[in-house]
Parts: sequence; C-alpha cells; structure tokens
Amino acid sequence: MSASLNGRTALVTGASAGIGEAFARLLAARGANLLLVARREDRLRHLGNELEQAFGIRAEICAVDLSRSDAVATIVAATERMRLDIDILVNNAGFAASKSFLGSDWSELHAEMQVMMGTVTGLMHSLAPAMKARGYGRIINLASLAAFAPTAPSMLYTGIKSFVLNVSEAVDMELKPHGVYVTALCPGFTWSEFHDVQGTRELTNRLPAFMWHDAETVARAGFDAVMAGQPVCVPGAVNKTLAYTSRLFPERIRYMMGRAGKMVE
Ligand SMILES: NC(=O)c1ccc[n+]([C@@H]2O[C@H](COP(=O)([O-])OP(=O)(O)OC[C@H]3O[C@@H](n4cnc5c(N)ncnc54)[C@H](OP(=O)(O)O)[C@@H]3O)[C@@H](O)[C@H]2O)c1
Repeated sequence: MSASLNGRTALVTGASAGIGEAFARLLAARGANLLLVARREDRLRHLGNELEQAFGIRAEICAVDLSRSDAVATIVAATERMRLDIDILVNNAGFAASKSFLGSDWSELHAEMQVMMGTVTGLMHSLAPAMKARGYGRIINLASLAAFAPTAPSMLYTGIKSFVLNVSEAVDMELKPHGVYVTALCPGFTWSEFHDVQGTRELTNRLPAFMWHDAETVARAGFDAVMAGQPVCVPGAVNKTLAYTSRLFPERIRYMMGRAGKMVE
C-alpha cells in the first residue's frame, strides 16, 4: 500500500456515499484521521465508527447541507472546536440536477452552484493558508469527464465541472511551490448513488460495462494523482481518450455535438 498518512487529517465532503465513502475508506486504511461531511448524519456516524475500529484512527463527523451559504463557516468552526489541522481536503460532494434550466427554481440552480462551486472554493480558501504555512497539503476536487465534454443542453453541470477543473489547476499553480498539491479528479461513469439521485439510472444502465468504474478505482486514481502532484486525473484509458480527443474539435462542432444530446425536460 502506497504513502502512509499516519498523523495526517483528511476532510472528505460527500462521505456518506459513493466516491466520497471510497475516499474515506482509502484514507483511513493509510492511517489518516478523518472529518466526514455530508447531510446524512446516521451514515457518517456509522462509517466513522467502522473506520475507527478497523484502523485505529480518529473519525469525526460534521452533518451539514453544503448548499447553505454558511456551510464553509460551519465546517471551519467544527475543525477549530475539534482541534483538527486539515492536511488533506477532498471536495467531493455533488449531484446533477434532473430538470431543465427554466424548469428549475432559482433555489435549485443556486444549490447546485453552491455545493459544487461555492463550497469547494470556500473550503480551499479557508483551509489552504494553514496547509501553506505547514508546507504540506493535498487537495482533490471532484470535477468530471463532463468538464471536457461538449456542453450538454439545459445543464449547469458541464459548466460547473469546467469551473472546478479550471480553478483547481489555477490554485495548484499558485500553491505547488509551497508543498500544497491540487488535483482535479475527472471520472467518467462511476457506480454510486449519483444516477439514482439524478433519476437517470434506467438510461445509464444501458451503457456498456467498459464505460463504468467502481468508486474505489476512482478514489485510488485521484489519491495517487494528488500524491504525485498531477493537476488533472482522468481515470481509465477510455475516459482519457474521450477527454483529450473531445478537445481537438473546433467549438462549432462541439456545439453541434452537444446539441445532439438529450434535452433535459
Ligand atoms: N458517479 C458518476 O458517474 C460521477 C462522474 C463524474 C463525476 N462525479 C462527481 O463525483 C462526486 C461524487 O459523486 P458520487 O458519484 O459519489 O455521487 P453519490 O453517490 O450520489 O454521492 C454524493 C455525495 O454528495 C453528498 N451531497 C450531495 N448534496 C449535498 C449537500 N447539499 N450537502 C452535503 N452533501 C451533499 C451526498 O451526501 P448526503 O446526501 O448525505 O448529503 C453524498 O455523500 C460528485 O461531485 C459528482 O459530480 C460523479
């Protein structure tokens, strides 16, 4: 097993399911203490207890809705109250809306942006100064293969994940000389609750098996990438090929490719 994290502390958002839970397990197995964040407190508590017993680490939880404008302040206050110095930040929580742009209330669109852009940026901005001062930090931000793909009709999601990719690279450039590495992790289709939440399970189940990864494979790829100082990680050969070839098309062709996609009602 690579890279012992004994004595390090990791904060994982969206740790109650899917890729976030896989990150929590991976980090605990390497000896890191954990602060687990999501809304479903029962799941966080159950996972934290299990990982404490299995690996002898300390696992704390902070149940918070990351769409709230005070979410970052709540989490930072929890780290101070619990006396946790965060060395590793996994900005993982996220979801994709299932309605069209005008079919959504502003509050729904705002929540999507807040969870995946506002809170992601706010946690980096709040926690990175101490990482920089200590000369050590690892930040993984969950973007998506969608960040490379043509814009999809009616969805904020591709724009949001493009933001995460772009900002991750920018912050990595600023902080890498100080020992703080930032990686945008860009998975393709991954087995988790994501497509159930979005309501697209029936559709995505028709995709061939080679298009899918499990959450553990995605988390391991992201972890290895951030430890190696790679600013962008696209897990899997098929996804890498899709990501890099899609960028070769001129914008007009990408627009036409995107428009041919399914319109979200
Ligand atoms: N699965 C894929 O195919 C795929 C592909 C590319 C990128 N991604 C990205 O990977 C990340 C993780 O997704 P996943 O596949 O693991 O999905 P998932 O199984 O649905 O897990 C999503 C996690 O985010 C948390 N979350 C969602 N909204 C939240 C909110 N308002 N406040 C606090 N926590 C919230 C959920 O916790 P609670 O419900 O308990 O709050 C849950 O722990 C997301 O950023 C997603 O965009 C996923």
